[in-house]
Amino acid sequence: MELTHRDFDDLRGYIYELCGLHIPDNKEYLITQRLKGLLRAAEAESWRELYEFLRRDCSAQVRNEVISAITTNETSFFRDQHPFDSFRDQLLPEFCKKLVARRLSGDRTPLRIWSAAAASGQEAYTLAMIIMDHLERNPGNGLRPCDFTILGTDISARVLAKATQAEYSDFELSRGLPEAYRKYFERAESRWRVRGDLRSMVEFRQLNLVTDFTDLKIFDVIFCRNVLIYFDQATKKQILERFSKILRPGCHLILGSTESVYGLSEAFCQERIGKAILYRLKGPGC
Ligand SMILES: C[S@@+](CC[C@H](N)C(=O)[O-])C[C@H]1O[C@@H](n2cnc3c(N)ncnc32)[C@H](O)[C@@H]1O
Repeated sequence: MELTHRDFDDLRGYIYELCGLHIPDNKEYLITQRLKGLLRAAEAESWRELYEFLRRDCSAQVRNEVISAITTNETSFFRDQHPFDSFRDQLLPEFCKKLVARRLSGDRTPLRIWSAAAASGQEAYTLAMIIMDHLERNPGNGLRPCDFTILGTDISARVLAKATQAEYSDFELSRGLPEAYRKYFERAESRWRVRGDLRSMVEFRQLNLVTDFTDLKIFDVIFCRNVLIYFDQATKKQILERFSKILRPGCHLILGSTESVYGLSEAFCQERIGKAILYRLKGPGC
């Protein structure tokens, strides 16, 4: 079925409005490959008919179907390793010292971590496992799992359902999970389920990064990896501006290895911690 220039422009315009994803010129295949299932489901006989249907039917269900078809949800446990090493070796011990000091002064506020664009949850659970491992190795500091909260958000309801279910295949575990962390999973028939004590540290919620999210509470660290690449410059700038409003000054934003704030935001300074490049929000230490 032919996708005319006009169909392509209209459909990519619709997707841009919906989730900020910028489909570049010459990437018609993204539309034809990823939306062909919707074409059938909507019983549309042309791309124009599908476009008109999408513009007409703005139900949450249809929007979720488009999002689930068009987004790339690739992820894995300990993806790219270095940011998690920096978190485990540098950021987390510092946070724990501050949490202990807070507790001594009667402040029970938990440490708040955000996995923005969490996909099917592996990043959020990787952080929960690192924290649990740290607590088990340092029982003397008196901190408990409830002193940490991890918010995982994504625009795709489909991947969030999987993240909440917290069940993964042997193959998914084999992609990056160190053997020593298998103990944080329990058997669930032919799959593996993240243990309940780790699940209770993590909450998942649908959130579109292109909308205003500055009413979220302040975070101590934000992981937003491998999603900014899909947005245009203006959208990246807006998202970074919003991050700067809800990250504690002096704390870190962690982007994907091919992403940077360079040319987009003056609010952060680049910092190498271990083998990872992180972005510190300018201001007094956190
Ligand atoms: C490639 S995955 C990255 C997952 C994880 N952060 C990682 O690095 O492994 C990108 C995720 O961003 C989500 N995403 C795309 N557009 C989004 C938007 N506007 N708001 C929130 N999430 C979005 C997709 O649904 C997808 O799950």
